[in-house]
Amino acid sequence: MKKAIVIGASSGLGNEVARLLLEQGWTLGVAARRVEALELLRELAPERVQTQAIDVTSDDATAALDELIAKVGGMDLLFYAAGIGKQNMELESDFELNTVTTNGLGFTRMIGAAYRYMATHGGGHIAAISSIAGTKGLGAAPSYSATKAFQATYLQALEQQAYMRKLNIRFTDLRPGFVATPLLGDNPKYPMLLETKKVAREMVKAINSGKHVWVIDWRWRITTALWRRIPKCIWRRLKIK
Ligand SMILES: NC(=O)c1ccc[n+]([C@@H]2O[C@H](COP(=O)([O-])OP(=O)(O)OC[C@H]3O[C@@H](n4cnc5c(N)ncnc54)[C@H](OP(=O)(O)O)[C@@H]3O)[C@@H](O)[C@H]2O)c1
Repeated sequence: MKKAIVIGASSGLGNEVARLLLEQGWTLGVAARRVEALELLRELAPERVQTQAIDVTSDDATAALDELIAKVGGMDLLFYAAGIGKQNMELESDFELNTVTTNGLGFTRMIGAAYRYMATHGGGHIAAISSIAGTKGLGAAPSYSATKAFQATYLQALEQQAYMRKLNIRFTDLRPGFVATPLLGDNPKYPMLLETKKVAREMVKAINSGKHVWVIDWRWRITTALWRRIPKCIWRRLKIK
């Protein structure tokens, strides 16, 4: 039976992907700070779901991950969905720094721990949600877009390192456009807004088919391809919100 750890499983995309993996017969270890939401997942299949409180910004987060892996009995797949983000036009300092701590430091801590585990346990698959926001610096969300670029580059670097070290670790960098999850708040009004369930299904499909990088959906694939071609002198004048 395949074993997956889902970090950031208490809401939004992580929660939805955890439900889909359960439907596909996986055994799961689910983690986040809000354990009550994790317990609801466990109730769906108590014999196949283990829960663990993990705050990825905390020093003891990797020990908690080890504990969860032990409870599940291994880790073939890490699905990493933990993250925070919002628009910050006032450049409020606490939010900028918390975003770097969660999406930068927390991400590095947890992805690194999973990589080291897989390196010494015969391999595995690391799938993480970065974002289309990492494609270019977005003025409305500076720390968010910068940390998402960091995540994408980090995954690319680890994938190259895994090849160099002949480790059997696969990677999938999932980059959705705007998705109507709690991260965007109530009543989100964003262009080309995507449904959580639909995005989660596309994510699981991308993992199962071994995609290395997958932008969701096709409209965002075209948009980000165009963004990349916009010269810097024009990009700095655009109002993208
Ligand atoms: N929604 C979008 O438009 C969108 C677009 C592109 C990418 N993404 C990315 O998708 C990922 C999932 O976000 P979502 O949209 O599904 O939002 P969400 O519903 O707010 O889910 C975020 C998840 O991250 C967990 N989390 C946050 N801080 C954490 C911490 N310090 N330690 C452990 N877990 C933490 C939350 O759990 P607790 O609060 O219980 O800890 C929650 O389970 C994020 O990386 C986000 O940047 C979202």
